[in-house]
Amino acid sequence: MSSETPKRKRVVLCMGQYCNAGRRAKRLYQQLETAVFDINGDQFPGPLKLEIANCLSMCGAGPNLMIYPEARAVNSLDEEKLRVVIDQYLRTVSTED
Ligand code: FES
Repeated sequence: MSSETPKRKRVVLCMGQYCNAGRRAKRLYQQLETAVFDINGDQFPGPLKLEIANCLSMCGAGPNLMIYPEARAVNSLDEEKLRVVIDQYLRTVSTED
């Protein structure tokens, strides 16, 4: 990990046909949205921006998530793995201007 923590991150969750099979991505979105609201607090814009995608072109590895600016791909997401991602990569985002 670099010594510089980016001040803002963009998180893109795939809600495409494969990743959302059985509505699994919808559950992940709800978990992620709660975490983003918690991390951003009352800052506007907050340090995290949550987006959805229709396909991230890695369907077979889904459910998938991308984190920018690192362009970190997270595959085979489930609720437990997302909890780890939130703690390791999203809660560390700087809240300083
Ligand atoms: S449907 Fe999610 S990567 Fe294609």
